[in-house]
Amino acid sequence: MKLLSSRNFVAGFPVRTVRIYCNIDVQKIGDSMSLKTILKTIIETSGYSIKKSSGVESFYDRDGLQSIHNHDFMRDPAFIEAYARGVQAAGNLDWHWRVHIGLWAAFSASKLDGDFVECGVNRGFLSSAIMQYLAWDKTGKIFYLLDTFAGLDERYVSAREIDSGTLVHNETNLASGHYVSGTDSVKENFSEWKNLKIIEGSIPETLPEIDAKQVAYLHLDMNCAPPEIAAFEYLWDRLVSGAFVLLDDYAYQGYAEQKYAMDSAAAAKDLKIVSLPTGQGLLIKS
Ligand SMILES: C[S@@+](CC[C@H](N)C(=O)[O-])C[C@H]1O[C@@H](n2cnc3c(N)ncnc32)[C@H](O)[C@@H]1O
Repeated sequence: MKLLSSRNFVAGFPVRTVRIYCNIDVQKIGDSMSLKTILKTIIETSGYSIKKSSGVESFYDRDGLQSIHNHDFMRDPAFIEAYARGVQAAGNLDWHWRVHIGLWAAFSASKLDGDFVECGVNRGFLSSAIMQYLAWDKTGKIFYLLDTFAGLDERYVSAREIDSGTLVHNETNLASGHYVSGTDSVKENFSEWKNLKIIEGSIPETLPEIDAKQVAYLHLDMNCAPPEIAAFEYLWDRLVSGAFVLLDDYAYQGYAEQKYAMDSAAAAKDLKIVSLPTGQGLLIKS
């Protein structure tokens, strides 16, 4: 038997491929052994193991995350419908697992008292998916949707973020249309729901326009640290016990400034943020 192992990269991730060449004397091994058993024996005596796939799409490989773990949420009709509503709002961003986490947080938060707030809405992918998923107007809650709807405000981007190219990235996103410019299409997208308030302008300036007394769900997704910290601090006292604070960029590659800033803000409240393999961070107010 000969084992040949090679290392290459798939979508930027290191992948090791092992090829096994062997001559099998079926008479010696025994006629009763199936080919599957023979292969299993060879692989296991070589120090490798075989994992059974989940039966869905065996390998999740999107949005910086590769996993063999069960992701059959992608087959859930409610998820499919919600994800499709996000695509309708903003196009396919191929971020299913992140949306799955967002829907879970929103579903859990819907059981609590308090409204929902998203800081960094853009065309409204995640918020539209959530509203679809929860049949929004029946929840009796208000969804506050805050954004400049014109990209990042450079007054609220830190010096280190500017040095790392955040404003260049912002210009690229505006020029390509990935970041929306103006509210017309956004208002049109959200026109199917009543219980929402679109707040246009720069955070932190617009935060006083959130008139919710209690908040159960806060999504921070502005791709820069200072306005996220400002929103977190401003809303802290209104977050109910058990409220979900979802941080879209917390561990995402290239957004370290947000992680360090949010870690300090959470530590000051004696809380810890869990780092999710999707690149998100999650904090539950206790
Ligand atoms: C990554 S996008 C948000 C994506 C959105 N959560 C979704 O589900 O598609 C980031 C958004 O943050 C907004 N943003 C950045 N800085 C901001 C600030 N200081 N005030 C308000 N919005 C801001 C940008 O305009 C942009 O639309």
